[in-house]
Amino acid sequence: MSIESLKALFRAELDELSAYRVPPAAPAVKLDANESPWPLPPAARARIAAVLHASELNRYPDGRATKLREALARGLGGSADEYVLGVGSDELISLIATAMCRSRANAERPVVVFPEPTFVMYGMTSRTHGWRAIGVPLDGAWDLDADAMADALERTNPNVVYYASPNNPTGNCFSRSRLEALIDAFPDSLHVIDEAYGPYSGQSFATFAEERPHCALMGTLSKVGFAGIRVGWVRIHEALSAELEKVRQPFNLNTAAQEIATLALTDLAPVIEEHITSVVAERERLATALDEHESLRCFPSNANFLLVQCAGNVGELCAALLQRDIAVRQFSTGDSRVRSCIRITVGTPDENQRLIEALRDILG
Ligand SMILES: Cc1ncc(COP(=O)(O)O)c(C=O)c1O
Repeated sequence: MSIESLKALFRAELDELSAYRVPPAAPAVKLDANESPWPLPPAARARIAAVLHASELNRYPDGRATKLREALARGLGGSADEYVLGVGSDELISLIATAMCRSRANAERPVVVFPEPTFVMYGMTSRTHGWRAIGVPLDGAWDLDADAMADALERTNPNVVYYASPNNPTGNCFSRSRLEALIDAFPDSLHVIDEAYGPYSGQSFATFAEERPHCALMGTLSKVGFAGIRVGWVRIHEALSAELEKVRQPFNLNTAAQEIATLALTDLAPVIEEHITSVVAERERLATALDEHESLRCFPSNANFLLVQCAGNVGELCAALLQRDIAVRQFSTGDSRVRSCIRITVGTPDENQRLIEALRDILG
């Protein structure tokens, strides 16, 4: 069999997609992936080392991750059985796409809707599972366009609707009244609110999910200091979590990830809080400094990053920053409105100062 005939066996949707690529080398100042800039302090590392030392790595992990789900329920509310865990929230998007893929009557494929621009994996993962993905442009203030969203939901009757709030890459939270109105008007869809950046916003949509069985909340430890362990969750009505559990690989979260995540939600929670407070304060300082440049416009942010519109050539600006060993995120595809923007993750005070000085050097 030739390679061509083997390639013909892959899903047709893959022809239109590219793999999600991450730049290989880490520059000195890494402000491109919305991670926490703070390494854990020595005492927290020692605590993790002690817990791992006592772990039985010769055994399979706890397939139900009971201790971690109980820690989530205690920390964020609800019952442990409402939580389904994934290798990052990326895996949960994939589990939802695998499990909830029955097409509506008269539709050829299941449909997912999300406002745009947003996190690319809602569309990409759903498409690799054969779904039709529909992006609805956000309004001029990056808020939900209530009429356009309602129109899309009415026309396509999606299985799932994703909302990232705060949204990536725009940084803002969506208005509660618009979001609530959409969720209430379309009770036959699952509405998933992704709060990956929620800890930086000081607000949560938890009550929406508590009051409505067709609303779920997604969360992750990736943006608050634990991107390396890949732990995410969805809090969803128990009747639906039971269905998602059927498609989850039984040992998806390894022992080290479960132990560290449990510590992150309990003993290490004060350390995380301290880091979040620092990032929020730095976000405001950085925004003020960036706004001093006539050619830059910083959008208001409730997250750990800033979306910055650039009047000049964005590619040249990113290259000039990279020459100074500073990486920020550029958008070459997707919503045309963000192609003139860069996304800057808020770093430590030192990293932010390096960025501020580099921009003064480049832009004058
Ligand atoms: C809105 C949003 N949700 C989820 C994720 C991915 O989170 P995880 O690392 O848990 O897969 C990202 C990552 O950039 C994101 O921006």
